[in-house]
Amino acid sequence: MFAVLLNLVLPAFAPASSENLKTDAPGFYWVQLLTKIALWLGLMFVGVRLASAFIFDLIFRLRKGREAPSLVRDLFSIVAYVLIVALILKYYFDLSLGALLSGSALLGVILGLALQDTLGNLFSGISLHADKPFDVGDVITVGKWTGVVESVTWRAAKIRTFTNHIVLVSNSQIAKEAIEVCPRDNANARLIFFNALYANSPAKVMQVVRTAIREAENVRREPAAFVRIRNLGDFGVDYEIKYWLEDYARFNDTDALIRQRIWYAFNRAGLSFAYPTQTLYIEQPKAIASLAAEEQTLTGRLSATGIFAPLNADELSQLACASRSHTYAPGETIIRAGDEGDSMFVVHHGHVSVQINDNGQPRTVATLGEGDFFGEMALFTGEPRSAHVVAAEETEVLEIGHEAMKSVFDTNPHLAESLGATIAQRRAGLAASAAAEDEEKVSAGVITSIKRFFGLG
Ligand code: CMP
Repeated sequence: MFAVLLNLVLPAFAPASSENLKTDAPGFYWVQLLTKIALWLGLMFVGVRLASAFIFDLIFRLRKGREAPSLVRDLFSIVAYVLIVALILKYYFDLSLGALLSGSALLGVILGLALQDTLGNLFSGISLHADKPFDVGDVITVGKWTGVVESVTWRAAKIRTFTNHIVLVSNSQIAKEAIEVCPRDNANARLIFFNALYANSPAKVMQVVRTAIREAENVRREPAAFVRIRNLGDFGVDYEIKYWLEDYARFNDTDALIRQRIWYAFNRAGLSFAYPTQTLYIEQPKAIASLAAEEQTLTGRLSATGIFAPLNADELSQLACASRSHTYAPGETIIRAGDEGDSMFVVHHGHVSVQINDNGQPRTVATLGEGDFFGEMALFTGEPRSAHVVAAEETEVLEIGHEAMKSVFDTNPHLAESLGATIAQRRAGLAASAAAEDEEKVSAGVITSIKRFFGLG
């Protein structure tokens, strides 16, 4: 049946050979000719579509395992259509496309002008395809448009914006503009800004926020998000969060989720956002009750510090009044090796690391916690600071100066012995060679220099 159909239809495709028909019945001749051409064009359309589907949907997909780029499909179709039309022209009118184009300068100019934009887009599309600056699924920003690339054809790139609108940006525009590309399988980062009151400790704010966003959906665990101070603003401390997304196309939702997590975390931790305010401070002497409570806390801390244990309540309270409290950020240096020093410190809250220089790298020789003291070596011997002391976390220390210690020694001369032992021990710990040194000899030497330094008998 198919053969019969072909026999019936095929003659219709044959060229008009009869010159007689053309002159005898020109109307019928042209109707027949146009019908044949229309049939060929229809066949061409179906054939090219089928060939394209076979090559790209079947063979390309099987070999490459992915969808063929629309631009390649479009180019294939265009070339196939042009070739077939050239064949039809040659077959029926004995016209060569090349001769037609080169023979008619005017036609060339008209075509060139008419197709200027189209050809521009086509060639930009080809160069985009060769260059491959982005792929389907990537998030790009061109001009004022940001969205996910849905396809790239020979004419334009189709972008779905975050308001679910489709924007078609022509290839020639893309070729001209700067494009920001966030590739789908890349670790793309986002910045989020927030602020907090000056009264809220930065270490605490950063810790709370870091914990709050760690578990948020679509936030990459590696690299881990980090929080840092961006500015000391007019109304509060400005922070920024840098985090990396699993799926960048969902950054709007993820940003919103992170902001929500920060709000709840602030609420639980008793932290506050800064908003445009002006704080009017009226200087008032501290309430006697609060001063007494503060002094009691400091006295408690000093009495729990080993070397001050022998002091009585009055002496401890005098020492507490003479001490000054300082708070250091994580990683901040409290004491620098080699500096002069005329005070010592007691760790009130937090931890510090005692570090020495080991071939240009800091090496921790000891970690001191609440109730431990440091800085006594330079204070009691007059030598330069023997090591760096660095806050391992947010740390509050109480600083006790030379004068305050002198009055403590005046009434408790035997303190020099216990301090001398500690200093000798720490010195031995500091120097590897000191391990072999006679600790007692070192201790006796230290006690003598302490007494000399404080002018004690
Ligand atoms: P100073 O030398 O004044 O300054 C650095 C301080 O680090 C030092 O006093 C000690 O208080 C402390 N330090 C030095 N070595 C050690 C150690 N081995 N263990 C604990 N603390 C130390």
